[in-house]
Amino acid sequence: MHYLDHAATTDLRPEAADEWLRVAGATGNASSTHGAGQRARRILEESRERLAAALGCEPIEVVLTSGGTESVNLALQGLWRSRAEGRTEILLPDGEHHATLDTVAALAAEGAGVVAIGLDAVGRIPVDAFAAALAAEGVALATALVANNEVGTVNDAAALAASAAAAASVPLHLDAVAAFGHLPLSFAALRGEAPAGAGLVALSVAGHKIGAPAGTGALVVARTARIAPLLHGGGQQRGLRSGTQDVAGAAAFALAAELTVGEQVAEAVRLRRLRDRLAAGIQERVPSAELLGDPDPSGRLPGNAHLLFPGAPSESLLFLLDVAGISASAGSACQAGIAEPSHVVQALGRTETEARSVIRFTLGRTSSDDDVDAALAVIADAYARASGSSIRGR
Ligand SMILES: Cc1ncc(COP(=O)(O)O)c(C=O)c1O
Repeated sequence: MHYLDHAATTDLRPEAADEWLRVAGATGNASSTHGAGQRARRILEESRERLAAALGCEPIEVVLTSGGTESVNLALQGLWRSRAEGRTEILLPDGEHHATLDTVAALAAEGAGVVAIGLDAVGRIPVDAFAAALAAEGVALATALVANNEVGTVNDAAALAASAAAAASVPLHLDAVAAFGHLPLSFAALRGEAPAGAGLVALSVAGHKIGAPAGTGALVVARTARIAPLLHGGGQQRGLRSGTQDVAGAAAFALAAELTVGEQVAEAVRLRRLRDRLAAGIQERVPSAELLGDPDPSGRLPGNAHLLFPGAPSESLLFLLDVAGISASAGSACQAGIAEPSHVVQALGRTETEARSVIRFTLGRTSSDDDVDAALAVIADAYARASGSSIRGR
């Protein structure tokens, strides 16, 4: 099997698995005052420190969660429920992940208004439009992806954060789930000298995207952020996320983060080469295939190659690739077995039919030339067969 869907989830790092097993074997609730509890607490707080170092923030700013979806929900719901009086608008760029879109939709039912920001043709949030929308009256909060998880386009997160810092009292959440481990990332550097409660105040990451176990994640929450919890109870983690903490998960996440961030620069070079070879090889074999996202390879996530295959339904291509031993994705939500047209591809100005004819290949730590060769060996045949099946009349 050749796994080219690392953006969905990537291999558990063996070191993280060992660390999880080692720590999970010890008894103790990190909130207990006895020796066993204090031992657990020490491991937990050391893990928080190591995560903070990997994320460029202070340990106290790391709120451990169950993953990206929970982090995004805590940020958006928490900021909305603590918003300044009279402010109701949420600034929402097109092409965000469903964790964001659906949370904002739920908040709209509570009275939130949505200010949409269109993407440019390569999938990037235009900084000018974002800044102009932030300056409008009544903005309660803003959110943005550091990098788009489907087409891989990297946003100018520093400029987005600076414009939020300049807009009086608008807090910004950044979704770094797709970017963490693939790009240099520092919460403190992005936050800069933003005033209390404004500018970048929250940043989401997920463990399973970097080789930690699924079920681990974090929301970085600035000390001065005003944010209401989703979970009420024992008051753990600054009262922002009550509940007994997952010490083994934290230890495994911290180790995976440390290793991934340490390897990030060299790994980006390695993945870019593989990714560019894959994209060029596909376009050689399927000349009508079009690479989406930023044509400048450094403007996309290092392991991301997202292609439009005109006339070939995504699900047919995915099926044929899967049968040939290649795991990829359409990069869009799939409910009850029916692939939705990608809202991200449509946000690039593409038609619904085009948005149903895309494949996202994503490479990661265990990817090799062998995986690229295997995909290149079957793509022309898969395309020929898939484009024979109609995508009309649906
Ligand atoms: C950009 C982005 N945000 C949020 C999420 C949700 O993260 P999780 O699957 O860890 O809940 C994902 C997952 O694919 C993502 O890519």
